[in-house]
Amino acid sequence: MDNNFYITTPIYYPSAKPHMGHAYSSILADFFARFKRIQGFKVYFLTGTDEHGQKIQRAAEKKGMEPKKFCDEISKTFFDLSKTLNLSNNDFIRTTEERHKKSVEHLWKILEKKNEIYLSKYSGWYSVSDEAFYSEDEIEIKDTKKISKISGSQVEWVEEESFFFKLSKWQEPLLKFYSENPNFILPESRKNEVISFVKGGLKDLSVSRKSFSWGIKVPSNKDHVIYVWLDALTNYISALNYPITDDNLYKSFWPASLHLIGKDILRFHAVYWPAFLLAANITPPKRVYGHGWILSGEEKMSKSKGNILDPLEIIQNYGIDPLRYYLIKEVSFGNDGNISKDKLENCINSDLANNYGNLCQRVISFIEKNLSLEMPKNYKFNNEDTKTLKVYENNFNNLVNSIDIQNINFYVNFIQDQLFSANKYFNDQEPWKKKEDTDRLNTILYVSLELIRKISIMLYPIIPDTSLKVLKIFNIEEKNIDFNSIKVHESLKNIKKLTKISILFKKIEKND
Ligand code: ME8
Ligand code: MG
Repeated sequence: MDNNFYITTPIYYPSAKPHMGHAYSSILADFFARFKRIQGFKVYFLTGTDEHGQKIQRAAEKKGMEPKKFCDEISKTFFDLSKTLNLSNNDFIRTTEERHKKSVEHLWKILEKKNEIYLSKYSGWYSVSDEAFYSEDEIEIKDTKKISKISGSQVEWVEEESFFFKLSKWQEPLLKFYSENPNFILPESRKNEVISFVKGGLKDLSVSRKSFSWGIKVPSNKDHVIYVWLDALTNYISALNYPITDDNLYKSFWPASLHLIGKDILRFHAVYWPAFLLAANITPPKRVYGHGWILSGEEKMSKSKGNILDPLEIIQNYGIDPLRYYLIKEVSFGNDGNISKDKLENCINSDLANNYGNLCQRVISFIEKNLSLEMPKNYKFNNEDTKTLKVYENNFNNLVNSIDIQNINFYVNFIQDQLFSANKYFNDQEPWKKKEDTDRLNTILYVSLELIRKISIMLYPIIPDTSLKVLKIFNIEEKNIDFNSIKVHESLKNIKKLTKISILFKKIEKND
């Protein structure tokens, strides 16, 4: 069995500071990385910044800065954000690094040698904001401006000598690849979009530009820079030391298990990227998942639109775990979602402070008062106890399988149900009335602790800091968290003494 898991985020344009949309993709990727780790996989998690091309060159010019210096500054804010978001990434790649440049040049040379690239002339529409070419029927006029129907961003006419990649040739092989790998593109609805785009016919793709210089030069013709998307996509293998294919990283982790991206860049990842790879005789990634957008009102939140919610400000006010929990739970994964401070506050108060925080606090305080934090011993499960504990075992395969197709909604709903059920258990069993019956009292407390342990393990990929705080009760450290252990009911019996915890989440005062 393949025990390695390679997950990536998009590499973001450092054209402006990061916003909530970037935080969203990164947090979700971190969720999967952490989940697979506690499931027992060897995980490699990559993120970074995409620093070449006309979009960045223009943004730098606007500030009167050298593009490299400009990128250094903004890339650092993305790097810092990766720390603030508590990402567990193994690497942070920048496309201006030498290791990446070598890799891209190598891939280009292979494509050229295999006769997949030829010199010709491009004339057509180009959006600098998307770094994408659009055909005539993908363009419309709005307020006298020509824009892309797909992204809404403005296009300009480009006419210049350009190298082309023989994309048309890969139409049939791609369709065959999609049908042989039915889960290559998820969610399903996105897959259908891509397939009909490819079936509609693929034209050869312009893969170099001559009219500006900020990029990696075409090795055989220094007047051209390599198209920024061919450059950027290669980060997923350059970070594994491609072309050194006997390198441990490359051998262990390519093909990638999951490129997690937003639906805005699906075409690049699900059409161009596998085509480049097939042409170079490299195995394409196993999965591309295109998630929905965080909306601001009705519109996509984006740097170019300026309608951004600053993740740093939110984190400063509410903390990182509440933001992580909120984004993972409230935005139904795969779909677009509106976010607001109001809903975030409700989520903190009800789910985190009440359902989780209070549960942990109540159980531990009770044990402190009545058992001086000794681990309850001599438990004897009745039917009700066993039923409550067994839910985890009964749903185990479903949980694992749903995460394997990125259906995190199932996972999150399950946690919510179990939080409800654990609270109900503690209330219904009324341990405070059972002080005379020590066996029953011990059993109720033992079961409650097991439920807290199981829930906290499940919460680890979502709110790692808080989960680790709670798991300290049982002396469980990060490296010992094992998702498989949620199936076990008697994992705490060797513990002697429990450790107290402080308040997990403060309730937010609301005026309404
Ligand atoms: O496209 N909602 O970079 P980019 C959800 N450099 N996710 C969002 C979002 C929103 N409102 N806005 C952005 C690029 N994202 C290229 C990628 S990869 C080889 C090169 C997230 O800075 C989402 O993941 O425009 C989206 O795909 C990505 O940021 C685009 O970031
Ligand atoms: Mg973008």
